[in-house]
Amino acid sequence: MDYDFKDQTILVTGGTGALGSKVSELFLKYSPKAIVITYKSESEKVKSEKGLRDVIDVHDTNNSGTIIEFIQANLLDEDEVQGLVENIIKKFGQIHVLTNIVGGYFGGKLVDEITLGEWDRMMDMNLKSAFLISKHVLKFMKTNQFGKIVHVSSVAGDKATGRDSAYAASKAGLIRLVDSIKEEVKESKININCILPTIIDTDSNRLAMPAANFSNWVKPEDLARLIVFLSSEDSKAINGDAIKTSGYA
Ligand SMILES: NC(=O)c1ccc[n+]([C@@H]2O[C@H](COP(=O)([O-])OP(=O)(O)OC[C@H]3O[C@@H](n4cnc5c(N)ncnc54)[C@H](OP(=O)(O)O)[C@@H]3O)[C@@H](O)[C@H]2O)c1
Repeated sequence: MDYDFKDQTILVTGGTGALGSKVSELFLKYSPKAIVITYKSESEKVKSEKGLRDVIDVHDTNNSGTIIEFIQANLLDEDEVQGLVENIIKKFGQIHVLTNIVGGYFGGKLVDEITLGEWDRMMDMNLKSAFLISKHVLKFMKTNQFGKIVHVSSVAGDKATGRDSAYAASKAGLIRLVDSIKEEVKESKININCILPTIIDTDSNRLAMPAANFSNWVKPEDLARLIVFLSSEDSKAINGDAIKTSGYA
């Protein structure tokens, strides 16, 4: 697939994580004007930067000059989110694509065992973060009458399995957030969708579930391809949707 992101600024939140780093690397292959990657921990940033350098060495033979910028930001802090978005706009003029990969999992407890802190953490990481970044990016996308937003929910947002109530409820909330925003911004030619992965084949999942059959798990590279497609004009017919990505699981 060939996509035209040449004049575009791409924002990848959580872009140093297991899935986020594959998304950042894949975008780089399409030589956008700029990729802005947010991160929380310095060590993850260092690893991710190395991965991107390797991609540039192998793929960017025409030396497209894509600007890669890492910005540390806590997506749960509204002032930081607003500052992040305004800085990008000041520097690059526009945010064309937001892929919001930030999120996290907590499970294993019955609902009457979950503490309020554990509940709030899931709502914050998976829902509040998506609300805040969407809110501040959309302001500029609406002015520009263009934008592509992709969030990462989970299959648990569609069907819970038990002992995952906080996680499932937060990811279900994200699906409705996407649904609602689509209705609000469709006149502005903005696409917003989310994907619903099952277990992703990441190092941390392999460590947590050593006896599992890894071959059935969807690879982050395959999800990255879908996310990039959903960020492109080729998928403009898809809007407000929650796309299941269970692969062969
Ligand atoms: N892994 C799975 O099996 C699976 C399955 C279904 C859905 N998902 C969803 O897929 C997405 C990516 O998962 P992943 O496995 O790639 O997770 P990951 O490796 O833990 O990546 C998550 C990213 O979010 C960042 N982050 C967390 N809290 C943040 C905050 N408050 N502000 C800013 N950034 C923050 C992390 O930064 P630091 O690393 O610097 O802390 C990290 O870069 C998540 O939304 C997850 O819920 C994952």
